[in-house]
Amino acid sequence: MIQKYRFGTPIETCAVIKELPVTEEKLPFFEISSKKENTEFVYKMADKDIVYGLGEQVRGINKRGWIYKSCNADDPHHQEDTKSLYGSHNFLLLSGEELFGVFFDYAGTVTYDVGYTHRDTLRITPEDWNLDVYVITGECEKDIVKQFRKLIGRSYIAPMWAFGYGQSRWGYKDAKDIRKVAAEYRKRNIPLDSIYMDIDYMERYKDFTIDEDAFPEFETFCAEMKEQGIHLVPIIDAGVKIEEGYDVYEEGVKNDYFCKDAKGKDFVGAVWPGRVYFPDFLKPETRTWFGEKYAFLLEKGVDGFWNDMNEPAIFYTEERLASVMERISELSKENLDVDSYFEFTGLVAGIGNNVGDYDTFFHEIDGKKVSHSKVHNLYGYNMTKAAGEAFEKLSPEKRILMFSRSSYIGAHRYGGIWQGDNKSWWSHLLMNLQMMPSLNMAGFLYTGADVGGFGSDTMEDLMLRWLQLAVFTPLMRNHSSRGTREQELYRFDNCDTCKKMIEIRYGLIPYLYSEYMKAVLSDEMMFRPLAFDFPKDAAARGVEDQLLLGNELMIAPVYTQNSTGRYVYLPEEMMLVRMRSLSDYETQVLVAGHHYVKAELDELVFFIRKDKAIPIGATAINTERLDAGTLKLFGYAGATYDLYEDDGYTKAYDLDSCIREIV
Ligand code: NOJ
Repeated sequence: MIQKYRFGTPIETCAVIKELPVTEEKLPFFEISSKKENTEFVYKMADKDIVYGLGEQVRGINKRGWIYKSCNADDPHHQEDTKSLYGSHNFLLLSGEELFGVFFDYAGTVTYDVGYTHRDTLRITPEDWNLDVYVITGECEKDIVKQFRKLIGRSYIAPMWAFGYGQSRWGYKDAKDIRKVAAEYRKRNIPLDSIYMDIDYMERYKDFTIDEDAFPEFETFCAEMKEQGIHLVPIIDAGVKIEEGYDVYEEGVKNDYFCKDAKGKDFVGAVWPGRVYFPDFLKPETRTWFGEKYAFLLEKGVDGFWNDMNEPAIFYTEERLASVMERISELSKENLDVDSYFEFTGLVAGIGNNVGDYDTFFHEIDGKKVSHSKVHNLYGYNMTKAAGEAFEKLSPEKRILMFSRSSYIGAHRYGGIWQGDNKSWWSHLLMNLQMMPSLNMAGFLYTGADVGGFGSDTMEDLMLRWLQLAVFTPLMRNHSSRGTREQELYRFDNCDTCKKMIEIRYGLIPYLYSEYMKAVLSDEMMFRPLAFDFPKDAAARGVEDQLLLGNELMIAPVYTQNSTGRYVYLPEEMMLVRMRSLSDYETQVLVAGHHYVKAELDELVFFIRKDKAIPIGATAINTERLDAGTLKLFGYAGATYDLYEDDGYTKAYDLDSCIREIV
């Protein structure tokens, strides 16, 4: 059952798709406590209660013990003590003494003190008191999530080719660089479906332009890549360069499509090209206009995009830059001592992505001026919505790949997300795993992290172990930052082993795609904490580093350096699979309980649930060449599998007619 409670006059977020009546009854579970500075929702947690959810966030599957903030942030250095990441997903699930889900539908900042100040207290503080709260009760965790997912609408469906392996790097400068990547992969017969194009393909970082020197005859280049079975996926940024003669800038100014400053002039911030204007994506006209711009690349043969810097990331605002420069010039005349030195470094460090700037620019909502700080978390969402709505018109038949960095619940209907700028750290490999179920709860099913890590130098063993997790995630993209160690798989001595992992991925795609589609079409989670399927199992409730995948698998990747195995908890009997390649593997049935499982670097380990089997096929150089005729059941003897199969490219998806039993 879902009950809707309204406080004040909330700003419409369009997160939910169902109009529910507002209940007049008292909000259950929470006390509302009013203090001088703010009002809070307070819930007393029992000792063993688990708090699931919050979508894209740091730390574990159980969120207890930390403070989190929904305030979309561009934070490439995030770690354990970070409070905000790129998306805000205000859905929580309390499991323990009570069982309920709660969604705070609120576009501004929300703080969640999940037993940090007091171990037994969950304290939720929205920045003001205008919000809708949805409380969901149900039979079990899965039932509550399903009800919530029905409330927020069906998740975006990616094309089949987006389940293939993708290679990316911020640093491919021109067609020559990309041809080289393609050639190196093809030369070694490593499967590959896509190469990503980062900001350098644009003419001086201007959206919807192509640098003609770097990519002469882009359309032909696109076709050449398609010939090789490779999709090019360009990036689109939120900021629009201020430059006379640049059509996007000029049309935006003329038609009032940009965010405004306090005086009503177009608001000036800065990103890659220097000074930019930010499209006011909260205005339907702006969305329609910006969305149609994607046609420029679609017409050239592109069929996938990633939306970036849409928190929005701001290097500096015109105003802050001026005041910082002024103060620095004053300070430069002083002897920098303990106070002035830290003031100086603070000024420089605080110039970018300064939350204080969110009060200095404005959106227009239903003819009213609204400060950005009130709707900050909706910005990236509406950029993705602009694209998603346009694709419906521009490409009504064919699916277009779209994933975004920033998001809010609702964006899941228009695109996937990647987990933003992570690092080549072992802890971020674990975080990738831990975020999968909370993202699924929030509706984001097409997701994954930058494999190998985006920032800092990767290691070949980290890359391999990361691939062993990413083999299972819908988005499997190797992406890294300029200035870091190059991490295309052919750069490493262990390239052959990496190749085998990718081949296993392609063998598993029919299963992964099938489970993804079943989860999307029935509003379920593809990745679940163990306790969602084994709620009464106390040991399962404590597991933080294993997940159930679909209805047949459990994954338990190795995420620590130099380990050649790990402890795994089996809530029921399962079949251990240890795979070195699609043709070199062994299996062993293990009883329920704790086990130490060996996993050498070259071994992918996963588990098939009791009396289940999955289809595995032959590998192929790309998804288009996968041959359903090669599928064989793998797992418990006598088990069958209901395979979901569609063409993977059009929108003719349907749960009933696309299922085929494999025996
Ligand atoms: C930030 C994005 O998160 C990253 O993936 C990208 O490479 C850089 N921007 C450059 O565009």
